[in-house]
Amino acid sequence: MSDRAFLRCIQPGCAATYGISEARYDCATCGGLLDVAYDWDRLTVPGSLSFFAERWATRHEPLDFSGVWRFRELLHFAPQKQIVTIGEGQTLLQNVDPRRVDLALSAGNLHFQYEGMNPSGSFKDNGMAAAFTAARMLGRRRVGCASTGNTSASLALYASLAKTDDGAPMRAVVFVGAGKIAYGKLSQALDYGALTLQIDADFDACLQRIREATERLDLYLMNSVNPFRLEGQKSIMFRVLEGLDWEPPDWIVCPGGNLGNSSAFGKAFVELKELGLISRMPRLAIVNASGANTLNELVSRQGLKWNDGEWDQAIVDSHYDAMTRDGRKAKTIASAIEIGRPVNLPKALRSLDAMNGVVCEVTDDEILDEKARIGRNGYGCEPASAASLAGLRKLIADGVVSASDRVVCILTGHQLKDADATVGYHTSMFTGDASERAGAPRRSMANRPVRVADDIDAICAAIEKADAS
Ligand code: F0G
Repeated sequence: MSDRAFLRCIQPGCAATYGISEARYDCATCGGLLDVAYDWDRLTVPGSLSFFAERWATRHEPLDFSGVWRFRELLHFAPQKQIVTIGEGQTLLQNVDPRRVDLALSAGNLHFQYEGMNPSGSFKDNGMAAAFTAARMLGRRRVGCASTGNTSASLALYASLAKTDDGAPMRAVVFVGAGKIAYGKLSQALDYGALTLQIDADFDACLQRIREATERLDLYLMNSVNPFRLEGQKSIMFRVLEGLDWEPPDWIVCPGGNLGNSSAFGKAFVELKELGLISRMPRLAIVNASGANTLNELVSRQGLKWNDGEWDQAIVDSHYDAMTRDGRKAKTIASAIEIGRPVNLPKALRSLDAMNGVVCEVTDDEILDEKARIGRNGYGCEPASAASLAGLRKLIADGVVSASDRVVCILTGHQLKDADATVGYHTSMFTGDASERAGAPRRSMANRPVRVADDIDAICAAIEKADAS
């Protein structure tokens, strides 16, 4: 076990530290979230990021092949022999012609980081590689999470492959809201053999319940409150930099749910800057769905700020009290980010502060149009992922992002995760519910299937008619 890594409370006024082998998710002194922190002076860190490019030549070695562990000097918390990898992170930055998505950015300035290409089809695998490594290091066997679907799919996959040090299989328990997660994701948890508890509750309540369960049972929690998860997710940013020849972009745009990614991205860049491996920070844009807009509400409307760790908790409390009082729950077609009480809120505030970040929100209709636009260009993604492009469009229209900025949108999950949302979009002509359709705008990107009789003349006529229109 590394004595050069430890856990540290993120509250600057507390900064209590704990040994790396403590399975803690929050600070015993003040209840704050924890970081994995490093004694960098006692670690060997490469003098330049281009060092990592050399690992391409040795990618027959599993650790050099992994898109997480080939950056292992930057998340050095476990002995090499306990590292878990299933080949995650084979995702490369894709340059996209902005005209193809009708975006007013200069040519060459738009990129998609397509995390749907991970083994379980979402960015979560970056985090699970690190969380399962931690579980091994801590000698834990039963692992669990609450999930809007992707965390549970990823956890179930890793648990089906990873083993404890003495060769015992891992046991996965996942808590999901009954009827709340997309079928593609549910099917993964079932297929990979996880004990799947469908709870009559939303994500926020499921997370609360599993936290209670970890206090009673020997159950290692792998939600993004687990600080090791976020260490793995830092690597998404390392690969973005690699795709840009180690030159930071101007903007990272990502969807915001439980705010693990935004927390990890900020930590990654702060550490790289401290280590002198980058010379400037990109800006961060976090995009909420309008139906799950806690962060945007608190930050953009109510002015909540990190404020050196002294953020105004009264603003947060009164927002949550109002949600409870009014019975308001998160509700969006982007079920992955249907979260009302993001646990990583403080870390996300810290990232926004460090990266001069902004928050915005987009409607479900905007998300679905952008999802179809992304699909039309060959990068199928699930609804939550498309929030990043929808948010970018808004930020350009508002003059926050300019045409000359270099932008990276994170596409967090694969298109096949939520086929219902895709087919639903393309088969309905208008936005909104059936009851609201009068006067509703057309779905601008819908590619409706054509019903045709089993008759060759009718089939050929349908093809010619489509060509002519
Ligand atoms: N995109 C996708 C596809 C997701 O699955 C999630 C989160 C997010 C974005 C939001 O990321 O939480 O880091 O802000 N999914 C979690 C889950 C909550 O349980 O699968 P975040």
